[in-house]
Amino acid sequence: MYSVAGLLKIINTEIEQRSGDLKKLTPANLYKPVDYSLEMGGKRLRPVLLLLSYNMFSDSVQNAIPAALAIEIFHNFTLLHDDIMDKAEVRRNRPPVHKKFSENSAILSGDVMAFLSYQYLLECKSDNLHEVLELFTKTAIEVCEGQQLDMEFENRLNVEESEYLEMIRLKTAVLLACGLKAGALLANADIKIANQLYEYGINLGIAFQLQDDLLDSFGSQESLGKKIGGDILANKKTFLSIKALENATGEVKSELISWLKNADYSPAEKITAVLDIFNKLNIRELTEQKIESYFQKCTTVFQQINMGEKQKLQLQEISKGMLNRVH
Ligand code: IPE
Ligand code: IPE
Ligand code: MG
Ligand code: MG
Ligand code: MG
Repeated sequence: MYSVAGLLKIINTEIEQRSGDLKKLTPANLYKPVDYSLEMGGKRLRPVLLLLSYNMFSDSVQNAIPAALAIEIFHNFTLLHDDIMDKAEVRRNRPPVHKKFSENSAILSGDVMAFLSYQYLLECKSDNLHEVLELFTKTAIEVCEGQQLDMEFENRLNVEESEYLEMIRLKTAVLLACGLKAGALLANADIKIANQLYEYGINLGIAFQLQDDLLDSFGSQESLGKKIGGDILANKKTFLSIKALENATGEVKSELISWLKNADYSPAEKITAVLDIFNKLNIRELTEQKIESYFQKCTTVFQQINMGEKQKLQLQEISKGMLNRVH
């Protein structure tokens, strides 16, 4: 079996090659942002999960490379559009596509990336390609549903924790879960195990987005590669802001509500004030506990998967790394 580092190397080499191909395509201005986005790096978690899952059942990892590429380019497409929607100024320590090129470029190059992902997926040779395409398409639709809810929640004060968890299941977790299940399907794994891997991916993905929300408030810009406090400025309903609204009382609660409604503020002042409220209410600790509870759910599913410990080990290793991350 390949190590996680070995799989990452395979993906990076493949992306480098494909990026060379993209550079030759015209109109060049359509493909430049695609190349920029892929070359900016990122953790490549989704393709690694896909190959890792495939490798649990088969050694011929090469066969799954187009699918790994497809999921990574799809993920990068969602980031191009997400960064416009979230008014992000930094991504992977560089200007996001809509800043480096233009908003229109980020829209259209994002669109072409979504279609390129299908083109790559169709290169896969597998008896289960139809099932994989079905899964991929369902996932893509769900990501849009999640992103819509994320936007709508910005304008609501009363978002329940359960609504938030469903929103992040859709916008983030399904794509990680899709990677794990697609890898298994492409390798002709038993459908029961493929579905268990999907369930594992959902719990991992929810924990991963909780961690992303935590880092958006408590991480460092240098290691995260994104501006800290973006969620606070956009009035995002994250686990942090939902718990703060739930647990605050009296003056602290009124102060928090007024920050969430205020349109005329200094960004730095708003971030400092809201972080101060989070600190008063121990929001960081509450979020860490929630992440841990989803990691526990992963462990429960992991134990139910009927495979040798050795085959499952890498999945556990990468999951731990994902949840202890700072970037
Ligand atoms: C960012 O995903 C978007 C989320 C779903 C939180 P990643 O944190 O995996 O982004 P990169 O690809 O590593 O930059
Ligand atoms: C992004 O969630 C989810 C998708 C791109 C579908 P975020 O908006 O929290 O991701 P970041 O923080 O910008 O990476
Ligand atoms: Mg977003
Ligand atoms: Mg964002
Ligand atoms: Mg985020």
